[in-house]
Amino acid sequence: MKSENLRFGYQDHSYQAAGQLDGITQLVDDFYQVMDSLPRAQRIRDMHPSDLTVSRDKLTLFLCAWLGGPRLFSDKYGAISIPQIHSHLDVVEDDKHAWLECMQHAIDRQAYNVDFGEYLIAQLGVPAERVEQVCQHMRSIK
Ligand code: HEM
Repeated sequence: MKSENLRFGYQDHSYQAAGQLDGITQLVDDFYQVMDSLPRAQRIRDMHPSDLTVSRDKLTLFLCAWLGGPRLFSDKYGAISIPQIHSHLDVVEDDKHAWLECMQHAIDRQAYNVDFGEYLIAQLGVPAERVEQVCQHMRSIK
């Protein structure tokens, strides 16, 4: 159906499709579990603090609003710009792919509708690309 994917970007449909806060918490737990075990992701894992408690909380709350749900991240942590918050990191193209691969594995572990899983990974590619670009820009002006 032509409108199938558009439906996910409408109101809080994506937030509902992701299972609301509980579903997104599980997704992010699985994401960081994959990151901990995937050799390709070791470089990006090493960019994170050893204790992932805050990283998990921040990504979970961020994704709630990003998927059209409640603004839990800004309520707790304030405003955020995804490219800017990563600009101190040395993220290269392979790191972006590793991040998206961790997310793909995490999505595969959820009982998501197939169309939603495909929509979600495609949508996440957009900010991931911006993160890589901003880090590349920061390297170029050093
Ligand atoms: C392109 C690949 C990416 C890499 C390698 C990456 C890596 C990281 C790292 C290392 C941190 C922790 C930074 C620190 O503690 O100083 C972080 C934080 C975070 N990332 Fe990413 N990230 C990527 C893409 C994304 C994307 C696409 C999103 C959102 C859709 C995202 C959302 C977040 C959030 C919400 C935080 C917490 C920010 C904060 O400290 O307030 N990241 N990321």
